[in-house]
Amino acid sequence: MTGLKIIATGGALPSRVVTNDDLSKIVDTSDEWIYPRTGIHSRYFCGENESTTDLAIKAASQALERANIDKEQIGCVVVATLSAEFACPSTACLIQEALGLPTDIAALDINAACTGFIYGTEVARGFLSANGKKYALVIGVEKLSKILDMTDRTTCVLFGDGAGAAVYEADDTMYYSIQGACGAKDILVPGINEADGKSYVSMNGKNVFKFAVSAIPRVINGIFEKSEKTMDDVDWVVCHQANSRIIDHVVKKYKAPTEKFYKNMDRFGNTSAASVPLALNELCESGKVKSGDSVMLVGFGGGLTEAGVLLSYAPKA
Ligand code: ACO
Repeated sequence: MTGLKIIATGGALPSRVVTNDDLSKIVDTSDEWIYPRTGIHSRYFCGENESTTDLAIKAASQALERANIDKEQIGCVVVATLSAEFACPSTACLIQEALGLPTDIAALDINAACTGFIYGTEVARGFLSANGKKYALVIGVEKLSKILDMTDRTTCVLFGDGAGAAVYEADDTMYYSIQGACGAKDILVPGINEADGKSYVSMNGKNVFKFAVSAIPRVINGIFEKSEKTMDDVDWVVCHQANSRIIDHVVKKYKAPTEKFYKNMDRFGNTSAASVPLALNELCESGKVKSGDSVMLVGFGGGLTEAGVLLSYAPKA
């Protein structure tokens, strides 16, 4: 076994929609400032009784239901998150228990910020290679609202909560992946709010932008080099949904059709590890992706981290 293919996806969103106009009542901001710079109109925030675990279980169970497989054949559960409900037990173990998945497989959380789901895909491929099982369940989930400083307009308008999941099947038809990481604490890190002393997301927006527009082509070109393919061979590209302008920049660079690069940050904001699987799930639900289409997933984010994978979409008939 050398690779994976996508056989099903799932998603879950909290109940509360927060628009740019809603945020303008809390901080000095406006839809007129946020939308043109980010492509974000609204995002979802968890209510008091909604947890990262709840969202992850919902997304995972939808993906499993759609996969229509014997869950005894699941070979690992990998959850990418930086906002787990508990450090221990992991979200993955809680999903394993809630969904009655096999107990003789690995279940673990990983943290690679917004790149997490794609790192998680490669981790899952490793487990299936090692244990010879057929299917992997990978989830990206975040409740970023609990680590946002709602007095900092430079960050609180960008992020949202949600979960996305995929069921992969071991497959050796097409799978190319690439990963990268470097420590850069001054660009994107938890910051401290002086008023309450708590840690929150903080970033240097301009440097994140510069990193993103260099990381995405680095990942895409790395995959093209390995696979000897070009943008014409790729049917769909699902990038981390940080900012519409970052994706526009990449579309222009590759002279690609805009519709090849899926976007949904207008309604979800940046959901970090959940962003790629949530976008993938929406794309699959739209019916635009056909069985056998090639899909490239591209992530970049805190760490700094970056990764990509090119694989097929092949839902079970
Ligand atoms: N509403 C109104 N004004 C704002 C807001 C806001 N939400 N945020 C910042 N401003 C103000 C600033 O205070 C500043 O005012 P000043 O000139 O009076 O000092 C002005 O707007 C310009 O601020 P900048 O930070 O220079 O704004 P910039 O043009 O760089 O845009 C943005 C900010 C949109 C974040 C941009 O830097 C960007 O797109 N960066 C990419 C970062 C990103 O998308 N991060 C996502 C998370 S990281 C990840 O997922 C990997």
